[in-house]
Amino acid sequence: MNNTDLVLKIENLTKIYKLGKKNVTPLANLDLDVKQGEFVSVMGPSGSGKTTLLNIIGCIDRASEGRVFLNGTDITSFSESNLYKIRRDNIGFVFQSFNLLPYLNAMENVELAMELSGKFAGQRKARALELLSLVGLGGRELHRPARLSQGEQQRVAIARALANDPAVILADEPTGNLDVANKDEIIRLLLELNVKQGTTIIMVTHDEQVAAQTHRLLYLQGGKIVKDKQQKINVGILS
Ligand SMILES: Nc1ncnc2c1ncn2[C@@H]1O[C@H](COP(=O)(O)OP(=O)(O)O)[C@@H](O)[C@H]1O
Ligand SMILES: [Mg+2]
Repeated sequence: MNNTDLVLKIENLTKIYKLGKKNVTPLANLDLDVKQGEFVSVMGPSGSGKTTLLNIIGCIDRASEGRVFLNGTDITSFSESNLYKIRRDNIGFVFQSFNLLPYLNAMENVELAMELSGKFAGQRKARALELLSLVGLGGRELHRPARLSQGEQQRVAIARALANDPAVILADEPTGNLDVANKDEIIRLLLELNVKQGTTIIMVTHDEQVAAQTHRLLYLQGGKIVKDKQQKINVGILS
């Protein structure tokens, strides 16, 4: 396989935070390849570097050592402004706490991501409507977050993450704040996007049942991937 079939290639990644005279090394000599269309779960104890890894892939933070390739492009030594552009146009983030803007309705939250990427108003509206329908929120486009359930808010966040057709969706404990029913719905939605649209997803989760449903399970410990398990994707729940 050549590099371009890989959405993500990480070589020998080390991250060191300097805290006064002390160094914290959440990631140490980590290697990882992710193919187009994979749905990868990342598990590991608290403090094992899961969020740090997602932040580096998502161009929020940068490597101390090693190299990171997104869609074949080496982003390791990109300037802040180039990292910002990659993050804005090629990465979709989904957070545990949804992070919607409370004074914007569902449409406007999704449109904002496209506005920042320079899409025209007409194009944005049509795309936002399409995405909100795709995540099951047709008819609720004009509701502000406060008028949506927690599960619905996370659906808006997923629609927003998809807005610019990102190379990869990075989800950091997307079901961590949800009750069981909403958790199941969000996982079903992510699986559906992965299976039907081919969306590449890297998802941090503490939930073994959630992780068991994805193609691949990585287990982080001591800054390294200590387990990398291929799994059968659970398409049964999609019908
Ligand atoms: N900005 C930072 N400055 C210093 N240390 C940090 C920073 N971010 C994370 N860390 C440290 O790096 C380690 C890994 O953190 P994190 O990636 O958030 O772990 P996880 O998401 O697996 O719980 C922890 O020891 C944490 O305290
Ligand atoms: Mg974390």
